[in-house]
Amino acid sequence: MKLRKATREDGRDIFIWRNDIITRQMSIDTQEINFENHVNWLEKALNNKELRLFILEKEINKVGVVRFDRENQDLIVSINLNPAFRGQGLALKTLTLAIDEIRKEWKFDTIIAKIKPDNKASITLFEKCGFVQKECINNMLIYTKK
Ligand SMILES: CC(C)(COP(=O)(O)OP(=O)(O)OC[C@H]1O[C@@H](n2cnc3c(N)ncnc32)[C@H](O)[C@@H]1OP(=O)(O)O)[C@@H](O)C(=O)NCCC(=O)NCCS
Repeated sequence: MKLRKATREDGRDIFIWRNDIITRQMSIDTQEINFENHVNWLEKALNNKELRLFILEKEINKVGVVRFDRENQDLIVSINLNPAFRGQGLALKTLTLAIDEIRKEWKFDTIIAKIKPDNKASITLFEKCGFVQKECINNMLIYTKK
């Protein structure tokens, strides 16, 4: 398995994964995203020095995307697996590789994940990755890791 930075060519895959019904249910914004808006967003994201997008590949397949947003001293992390690769235990590897990589690139204090309370797969994943629940704000669980 290999981690790399996302490129413009990943746009269609990231778009399809983002509009997956479970991803939408587990996102803060549950609206379906339109392709043109997505392309514009990706272009800005790839040029944003405070944002990183990583893609995990397994042989010729793309397993998923991990996003980091720098906010002051902290990072906000989110992960979205290709629906075809969920439930195979690949999420922990993906998240771990992405965090290892971002540690090489950026100095930061805390990594923060915001998770809906009914997102059991994500809660299990982040806890296995060493995140600890700190609080619940606006019905989102806040998990952190140093
Ligand atoms: C969250 C996500 C990355 C997890 O990846 P995944 O491949 O589905 O997760 P896994 O199959 O590795 O499961 C992770 C753990 O959760 C457990 N789990 C999965 N579904 C569960 C459920 N409904 N109830 C309880 N535990 C569950 C699994 O058993 C596994 O635990 P284990 O390692 O002890 O077996 C993936 O489901 C996803 O992309 N979801 C949509 C986007 C999303 O929710 N992102 C996170 C936003 S914070």
